[in-house]
Amino acid sequence: MRPPDIRESPLPHPHEPVLRLLSEDELAHRVTELARQISTDYAGQHPLLVGVLKGAFVFMADLVRRLTIPIECDFVRLSSYGSSTTTSGQVTLLVDLKTPIEARHVLVVEDIVDTGLSQAWLFDDLIRRRPATLRLCALLDKPSRRRASVPIDYLGFTVPNRFVVGYGIDWDERFRELPYVGYIPSQEP
Ligand code: IMP
Ligand code: MG
Repeated sequence: MRPPDIRESPLPHPHEPVLRLLSEDELAHRVTELARQISTDYAGQHPLLVGVLKGAFVFMADLVRRLTIPIECDFVRLSSYGSSTTTSGQVTLLVDLKTPIEARHVLVVEDIVDTGLSQAWLFDDLIRRRPATLRLCALLDKPSRRRASVPIDYLGFTVPNRFVVGYGIDWDERFRELPYVGYIPSQEP
């Protein structure tokens, strides 16, 4: 399923200094499409969705409410030592799953894949627990900064090399509450 192209047409918004990249409608439409595809692909399989905290919480909440199959949810939280806007690759598991995943169909739900280092580390860890299948659903992909190869099975949108915020995604814990995805022009990569 090919993600739609997005045009970068920032609109000024009261939440200065954030410029809007993806509107609420665009997000809702795409999340519905992803949920439809996931519901088809996992029919009869009772998958476990693993949300990566904190960034994926809004996306995951919208996604699961649009699924038409029974699922379970669990969460992990990763920490990565780096600056506030980039990943170092030194990842640790701050919160682990409560659910054993051996022989389960596991779908990891992530906010954004940037360097890919966090996801590569997480997949390495999860694969050792011998799930039946392990796939990745990411709302956003920022391929220009990739350092580790990470296949994204279900992708919302490809975004340009901007520091994005909103819809659960933060900059130093700010802006998670925005209902849209935007970027901060002053925070250029
Ligand atoms: P990666 O390991 O570089 O692929 O990115 C790991 C995490 O960094 C993502 O799951 C996000 O939580 C965060 N991140 C990456 N890019 C951005 C961004 O543009 N805005 C906010 N958080 C980001
Ligand atoms: Mg994340």
